[in-house]
Amino acid sequence: MSSWYDSWADRYADWPSGAADVPFYVGLAREAEGALVELAVGTGRVAIPVAQATGRRVIGIDSSPAMLAQARARAVEEGVELDLREGDIRELELEAPAALIYCPGRSLLHLPTWADRRRCFERVAASLRSDGRFAWNAFAFDHHVASALDGQHADTAVPHTNHYSVGDNRVDIALDDGGTGSLWWATKNEWLGLLDVAGLRVEALYGGFAGEPLDDDSREYVFVARRSGG
Ligand SMILES: C[S@@+](CC[C@H](N)C(=O)[O-])C[C@H]1O[C@@H](n2cnc3c(N)ncnc32)[C@H](O)[C@@H]1O
Repeated sequence: MSSWYDSWADRYADWPSGAADVPFYVGLAREAEGALVELAVGTGRVAIPVAQATGRRVIGIDSSPAMLAQARARAVEEGVELDLREGDIRELELEAPAALIYCPGRSLLHLPTWADRRRCFERVAASLRSDGRFAWNAFAFDHHVASALDGQHADTAVPHTNHYSVGDNRVDIALDDGGTGSLWWATKNEWLGLLDVAGLRVEALYGGFAGEPLDDDSREYVFVARRSGG
């Protein structure tokens, strides 16, 4: 399956990533006793440090063959083992239940509809051990940020322009050299509703990767959930 990411996977490392997320996910992985799974693993930006810190092989799923190829090459360079699988996170299937499933880089926002996300959350719940955790982060929509960025060209290492569609809660990212990718933002209550329908419960909701409380100034949702009854 080819995707927008295939066209610029070799430049993904140049996109500002907010590396503060890496210690957060590494910390959760250290606490997990059992299989570790990254949804939308991309180039292994997070999975590689997780594998290095835990000495365990991380299962990484992604729909972009070119992103997976980057991850494969970087894992060899770093001397770690990743179990990389091409697939769609809405169709997650594991041979054995996982202790931790995590999805960094705001990747869940690539799923356009409630139905897509519900399917993904249900597959996550079905793939976790009874005490297993699910963690992810996503930006919190801020109309100040949107009005500052809308239509503006970003003259960065991967030059692009953002276009906001409030009616569809969507940001389109149009690269100068072609191709547009989209993110669909979600509110806190949508995320909580997804946990509810999937039979997961919130363990923590932070406003940042250092464990800051979520408040009116927070621009990131950082969720940690557990299987209910775990
Ligand atoms: C922003 S990148 C994040 C990569 C990595 N997790 C990180 O934090 O650097 C988003 C990734 O999501 C993947 N992706 C988007 N939709 C997907 C889907 N439905 N199933 C699997 N992967 C998907 C893309 O191919 C891309 O590699």
